[in-house]
Amino acid sequence: MKDVIILAIESSCDESACAIVKNGKEILSNVVATQIEVHEKFGGVLPEVASRLHVEKISAVIEEAVEKANMSVDDVDAIAYTRGPGLIGSLHVGVQAAKTLAWAYKKPLIPIHHIKAHIFANNLITDLKFPLISLVVSGGHSEIVYMKDADSYDILGQTQDDAIGEAYDKVARVLDLGYPGGPKIDNLAKGIEPQYTLPKPKTEGTYDLSFSGLKSGVLQFVDRMKRKGEEVEPAILAASFQDTALSEVMDKLMLAVDDYPVNQVLLAGGVAANSELRKRMEAAFANRKEEIVLPPLWCCTDNAAMVAVAGYFAYKQQAFGTFEQSAKPSLRV
Ligand code: KG4
Ligand code: ZN
Repeated sequence: MKDVIILAIESSCDESACAIVKNGKEILSNVVATQIEVHEKFGGVLPEVASRLHVEKISAVIEEAVEKANMSVDDVDAIAYTRGPGLIGSLHVGVQAAKTLAWAYKKPLIPIHHIKAHIFANNLITDLKFPLISLVVSGGHSEIVYMKDADSYDILGQTQDDAIGEAYDKVARVLDLGYPGGPKIDNLAKGIEPQYTLPKPKTEGTYDLSFSGLKSGVLQFVDRMKRKGEEVEPAILAASFQDTALSEVMDKLMLAVDDYPVNQVLLAGGVAANSELRKRMEAAFANRKEEIVLPPLWCCTDNAAMVAVAGYFAYKQQAFGTFEQSAKPSLRV
């Protein structure tokens, strides 16, 4: 079969990214310009600043990706882009860039769902073996997804309130650790006993998740300790929060895996980079028949290579978009 080369653009949050990928597997280039240093100063992503920085960076990022792949946009088969979900202003920049390229070079456009792209990122390191279950844990999403094949997408369970990454970032802010909080809590909690008692989410008996009670539980705990004049030990609080959040995630994932026979269980999204989550996955599946896929850190966080892989699967289905489609911040699958 003829090679399929996809150029993809991602700009849903605070990374401006462009990648060129062959056959959904071989990365020819993968450029990510992160805005983290700017948002760090504010303790979180400022949407208005994010979109302005995307406007400044996107052309150079695309140019670099094309140069690194040592080709012309003429040589690619389609232009894939993240249509949503994400920040509206940020998404717009990537959508417009993709449309401009598709128009100028007469290429088909492929709109991609950001969360699907996180799942498809795993195809860069292994072959996806359907049916599969993916635990999607990021700054904007917490979902347990069942995929019978590459085109189907069933959300078995999802967060009823905040995303897990959001909770990590919030707790990190309470502890004054900086943004993004996930990796900071991950490091701080390493090897520490979770000794503080925090409220457990009340989602028993479903595959759904919840993190807002835990998030406010942390705030209340810190307040209570202050009022009593007692010191909060940041590392113990980080470990206690992480233990409660990850127990919730693992309990629900195992419930789903027991009910749905699958070949693979994949992690996806920024929180998949978490070292404790990866440890718990390995322990939970050590004696089970399902293969687990723990993507390397570079393919957990936002990038455009994952959008190109999802674009490749969509290309095979001829699932092309139109120039009338615009960014959709709350795009459903
Ligand atoms: O997927 P992603 O890059 O962006 C979204 O689509 O949301 O995920 C970003 C989230 C942030 O909340 C960040 O704190 C979290 O992933 N994160 C982590 C780790 N690395 C990134 N959370 C826990 N442990 C980590 N090591
Ligand atoms: Zn993401």
